[in-house]
Amino acid sequence: MAKIVLVAAVARNGAIGVKGGLPWRLPSDLKHLRATTWGRPMIMGRKTFDSIGKPLPGRESIVVTRDATFARDDVHVARTIDEALAIGAERAQAMGVDEIMVIGGGELYRATLDRADRIVLSEVDLAPQGDAFFPALDMRRWREVSRETPPRGEKDDAAFTVRVLERI
Ligand SMILES: NC(=O)c1ccc[n+]([C@@H]2O[C@H](COP(=O)([O-])OP(=O)(O)OC[C@H]3O[C@@H](n4cnc5c(N)ncnc54)[C@H](OP(=O)(O)O)[C@@H]3O)[C@@H](O)[C@H]2O)c1
Repeated sequence: MAKIVLVAAVARNGAIGVKGGLPWRLPSDLKHLRATTWGRPMIMGRKTFDSIGKPLPGRESIVVTRDATFARDDVHVARTIDEALAIGAERAQAMGVDEIMVIGGGELYRATLDRADRIVLSEVDLAPQGDAFFPALDMRRWREVSRETPPRGEKDDAAFTVRVLERI
């Protein structure tokens, strides 16, 4: 069974988004996201899909929505989290990978956290205003398996540290 991996960039105050977009400019983290999700199926909420506006290359997008009229032929569409995970498992097998990535936003992280095996967290050294948040983690249930601080890029609003957590 493919592992369920949450990938998120989270500020010190838990913020992940504001007004349908990201609260920062962090090209280095987008590069990290691209590398982490490459060649894998990615599940996202409809609002996150809208904010990206198109399927990201090199990956398969699974968009979760309750809107029965939502239809696109360039992404997979799921009406429930269970359906999204089932499509993710099937696509992971077809793509020859053992991970299903959940890339947000806040509602999707909350809905999948209990089933996640791993979290790849970019901890951003900012505390911006936000209206979307990452759920609080019970650190008795997670152990850090790696931690890395990439060099801050010229165009990055802040430094960030990538921590990989695995469920205990
Ligand atoms: N920092 C990061 O790493 C990161 C990552 C991703 C997104 N973001 C940010 O997060 C914000 C968006 O997050 P959000 O929490 O507002 O929205 P979201 O999780 O992206 O999408 C929410 C939508 O997903 C659908 N949905 C959620 N749960 C569902 C379920 N159980 N069954 C069926 N459909 C379900 C619904 O779509 P319908 O309304 O169509 O029914 C819901 O309105 C944006 O600001 C974005 O930029 C940040």
